[in-house]
Amino acid sequence: MASGSGSNFEALVGACRNGPLAATVCQLVVNNPGCGAAQRAERLGVPCTIHDHRLFNSREALDQALIASFQAANVDLVVMAGWMRIVTQALIDAYPQRLVNIHPSLLPSFRGARAIEQALAAGVQLSGCTAHLVSLEVDTGPILVQAAVPVLASDTADSLAARIHAQEHRILPLAVQLAAERLELLYG
Ligand code: GAR
Repeated sequence: MASGSGSNFEALVGACRNGPLAATVCQLVVNNPGCGAAQRAERLGVPCTIHDHRLFNSREALDQALIASFQAANVDLVVMAGWMRIVTQALIDAYPQRLVNIHPSLLPSFRGARAIEQALAAGVQLSGCTAHLVSLEVDTGPILVQAAVPVLASDTADSLAARIHAQEHRILPLAVQLAAERLELLYG
């Protein structure tokens, strides 16, 4: 699931194709037609489905459409790789223990939108990123992997975002691996 540039989506595809992750990214869903993630999917040959949130009456209706897509593609695990919509219990219940989010802060600090700007405004000297299982409250849920990055006095939102992104690309495949191992432990 992606809304923006899709660099985390591409990192996951790379980890599956060239790296250590024994998985396949079988489908991308985007809510913004023409977004960078959709363009990357085309280049990478990953099927991409558009569910434009503007065409749905409710968050629940959007999530039901997502669930239908995932079920049609027979997916085992779902990753919110820069998904900028609030998800509902319907999606969480459809993929219990199988819905992973990546967020650009050291949760529980700086939840919600513009986490990088929030960190800069707070003047923290350390920020980072968190991959976690999704609970209903935004940017909460059991933490799978975190990475810390220093915040430099000279940082702008862009420079800090670049440093955080590099770590996101590293930890998101690790988080998927951990989530899969956790499922194995829970359900065999
Ligand atoms: C990532 O930094 C991700 O952590 C963030 O959106 C960016 C997407 O980048 N997600 C959130 O803020 C969710 N609360 P990408 O499109 O290049 O992968």
